[in-house]
Amino acid sequence: MGMFWRSVLLLLGLNIALLFVNCFGADPFVQYLLKVSYITASPLGTPQQVIAVNEKFPGSVINVTTNYNLEINVVNGSGIQMRKNSWQDGVLGTNCPIPPKYNWTYRFQVKDQIGSFFYFPSLNLQRASGGFGPFIVNNRDIIPIPFAAPDGDIVIMIGDWYTRNHSALQADLDAGKDLGMPDGVLINGKGPFQYNSTLVPSGIDYEIIHVDPGKTYRVRVHNVGLLTRNGPPVTINGKLRATLNGISFVNLTTPIRLADQHNQEGVYKLDFPNTPLIESPKMDRSVINATYKGFIEIVFQNNDTVMQSYHLDGYSFFVVGMNYGNWTEDSRGTYNKWDAISRSTVQVYPGAWTAVYVSLDNPGAWNLRAENLDRWYLGQETYLRIVNPQENNSTEMVAPENVRYCGVLAYLQHDAEPYDDKAAASIVIGRPQIFFSLLGLLSFLMLITR
Ligand SMILES: *[C@@H]1O[C@H](CO)[C@@H](O)[C@H](O)[C@H]1NC(C)=O
Ligand SMILES: *[C@@H]1O[C@H](CO)[C@@H](O)[C@H](O)[C@H]1NC(C)=O
Ligand SMILES: *[C@@H]1O[C@H](CO)[C@@H](O)[C@H](O)[C@H]1NC(C)=O
Ligand SMILES: *[C@@H]1O[C@H](CO)[C@@H](O)[C@H](O)[C@H]1NC(C)=O
Ligand SMILES: *[C@@H]1O[C@H](CO)[C@@H](O)[C@H](O)[C@H]1NC(C)=O
Ligand SMILES: *[C@@H]1O[C@H](CO)[C@@H](O)[C@H](O)[C@H]1NC(C)=O
Ligand SMILES: *[C@@H]1O[C@H](CO)[C@@H](O)[C@H](O)[C@H]1NC(C)=O
Ligand SMILES: *[C@@H]1O[C@H](CO)[C@@H](O)[C@H](O)[C@H]1NC(C)=O
Ligand SMILES: *[C@@H]1O[C@H](CO)[C@@H](O)[C@H](O)[C@H]1NC(C)=O
Ligand SMILES: *[C@@H]1O[C@H](CO)[C@@H](O)[C@H](O)[C@H]1NC(C)=O
Ligand SMILES: *[C@@H]1O[C@H](CO)[C@@H](O)[C@H](O)[C@H]1NC(C)=O
Repeated sequence: MGMFWRSVLLLLGLNIALLFVNCFGADPFVQYLLKVSYITASPLGTPQQVIAVNEKFPGSVINVTTNYNLEINVVNGSGIQMRKNSWQDGVLGTNCPIPPKYNWTYRFQVKDQIGSFFYFPSLNLQRASGGFGPFIVNNRDIIPIPFAAPDGDIVIMIGDWYTRNHSALQADLDAGKDLGMPDGVLINGKGPFQYNSTLVPSGIDYEIIHVDPGKTYRVRVHNVGLLTRNGPPVTINGKLRATLNGISFVNLTTPIRLADQHNQEGVYKLDFPNTPLIESPKMDRSVINATYKGFIEIVFQNNDTVMQSYHLDGYSFFVVGMNYGNWTEDSRGTYNKWDAISRSTVQVYPGAWTAVYVSLDNPGAWNLRAENLDRWYLGQETYLRIVNPQENNSTEMVAPENVRYCGVLAYLQHDAEPYDDKAAASIVIGRPQIFFSLLGLLSFLMLITR
């Protein structure tokens, strides 16, 4: 158990761009406590250990309103992610994992990301065992939304599910096996209704949602599944891996900007290739060298056999084009540069490409990854290291006072007491931080292979 908790890292899957204008101390301050632990549940009839948050599976809801200043104390696990500053992002390239029995507090302000999000563990395949929960950002009254206030708010967390736990699934991937078909689908942590007594055993608890006739409800649906599929595997040094441009990303042991701040070299390389390295895929820590206020074009070419979703932390990007076949320079002529939609996640169809433009207005280190959990685990990710060459601590936040150290900087970590239940109340006022955008064009053609 100790080993497992050593590597728990929660992150919130909220990665929409907003200008992180952290200001005006009058905005409300709210605290949440998320305690991560194992509980036993039998969602498909077989008892198994699942990851609960505050003893609940799915975890308890975070329900806030734009401009709130949040302090989220994560106990027994770490990590949270949103468009904020990358020190609060919750992936290995930005945060050190939190050891068992220790807590870490995320501090950030939610801005104009009105909508439905969820938090989840970002290390290994832990999300396959739970650890996720809803995160709602409501509009302030002065921000109109295009419908009347609903009579009720319903959260549905739906996803594929294995009766094997995350360590067993991880062992399969490490051994070069596909995960195979999931054992079922869970809705809000519960199994199927016994619609057929041959197919579904009796005694399974299923979700019931009560609605009254004539009333209107807002239903917030989250896909918390692994989205795993079968497909032809890349093999590097005899291991099953997934690649982006022929690079299968190797876990960072020291966060990127932390390493920079402490002048540690060799933690990562700024040599992510602009075009695919087709002949010889390799495992490396290749990161994209990007400049603050630049503009970047990323073309995702999906040469895999399954639908892929790609996500960039800390940003929303403009989806300027997508089509079947191979992307070529001429494809740029078809781009929609007029009213492209802004997204933080985009689909890339098998045998097709999707092109996005990103305005690099948020400095830091930001994870670009496959949303399919098995592909992510197998290395289909990289980071954009976005720095202001004239940085003087006015564009990028400095590390928070409670930053954790690990990897080559582990010697700087001085842990005091393990978690103590007495949650202290305090007020945190954000610091002013404004970002601007544009100029230059850096282009990447990303070949997704596996
Ligand atoms: C941390 O997780 C372990 C393992 O599930 C559990 O025994 C312990 O009670 C948890 N601690 C807290 C503070 O939730
Ligand atoms: C996961 O399952 C394996 C058996 O496949 C078991 O040995 C291990 O203790 C389980 N881990 C957790 C955290 O439940
Ligand atoms: C851990 O939680 C305690 C109690 O809420 C808090 O005082 C302390 O600052 C937290 N530690 C970190 C590193 O966030
Ligand atoms: C979230 O908070 C809003 C406003 O307080 C409330 O109307 C809504 O029912 C809450 N939703 C959930 C799922 O708790
Ligand atoms: C239940 O499922 C079994 C196996 O697929 C099928 O043979 C049977 O006809 C189903 N029963 C009903 C009532 O649909
Ligand atoms: C990535 O990190 C996790 C936990 O730190 C570890 O279990 C896993 O084996 C690592 N994967 C690779 C490919 O290094
Ligand atoms: C990263 O990009 C900047 C700006 O284009 C350039 O000055 C620097 O040399 C690059 N670094 C590496 C390691 O390529
Ligand atoms: C794309 O996949 C096909 C079929 O698997 C393979 O023949 C081809 O070489 C791949 N193309 C690239 C550029 O990797
Ligand atoms: C795309 O390029 C790959 C590699 O060059 C090739 O195998 C494939 O046939 C091409 N697909 C189309 C639709 O042209
Ligand atoms: C930025 O802030 C850090 C931490 O406060 C400090 O060590 C560093 O010297 C500052 N850098 C500049 C350029 O002011
Ligand atoms: C930091 O640099 C910006 C220009 O890049 C300048 O406007 C600002 O005044 C500088 N801030 C400090 C504290 O030197």
